[in-house]
Amino acid sequence: MSKTPVIAVDGGAASGKSSTSRRLAARFNLMHVDTGSHYRAVTFALVQAGVSPHDTATIESALAHLKLGEEIDGQSARISIGGKVPREEDIRSDAVNAAVSPFAAVPAVRRFLFDYQRSQAAVAERSGFSGLIMEGRDIGSVIFPDAPLRFFLEADEATRAARRAKEGQTDSIAERDRIDSSRKTAPLVCPEGARRVDTSHLTLDQVVDLLAGEIEQATGLAPAQA
Ligand code: DC
Repeated sequence: MSKTPVIAVDGGAASGKSSTSRRLAARFNLMHVDTGSHYRAVTFALVQAGVSPHDTATIESALAHLKLGEEIDGQSARISIGGKVPREEDIRSDAVNAAVSPFAAVPAVRRFLFDYQRSQAAVAERSGFSGLIMEGRDIGSVIFPDAPLRFFLEADEATRAARRAKEGQTDSIAERDRIDSSRKTAPLVCPEGARRVDTSHLTLDQVVDLLAGEIEQATGLAPAQA
């Protein structure tokens, strides 16, 4: 088991977890992993293979053919499938936006990514990072329930819609959050003992500073940059 410090950051779509995690990664020399991109990459591969989220048997056999790896890109580790990192425009396409929550609700898909996501702590360690910061929906509840620090970010719906529009995205975050929160396996919830932070009325700098203070206190990590 890797001893590298792990910071878990969970929250709904557009809660601010990506921007915050990236900034914290740079500040503390942490390896950043966006697990939403894992579900998106696997969804893209399954959609391309013509698999439906309702066809569990076919999903399991299709997953058996997907070989996962990672490439370090600056501060982030990006998932690769069959030795290739899928393109951003492919994993953020309308087709993937529409299919990712239904696929992420399938237990076989979550099982498939569990070991891979846990293995990223060792990847961070051997790649020379001071720790791992992993963002998603179930990182503090399922993947690293034992992490020294687990954050749960939230923001009101109007703030989240405005943030998405600013990023030029138009997908239905409310609908995705509804599916993600109501699924049976690893639903989006604030894990017990996690630090809940409402980012609606905070700037990105304020959220980053708030979390950075807690990271220093809980892990003893020192900022690599201000
Ligand atoms: O963060 P995102 O919007 O890129 O995530 C895409 C989808 O993946 C989202 O609808 C829920 C799912 N997801 C999940 O179920 N568990 C995670 N740890 C991360 C994402």
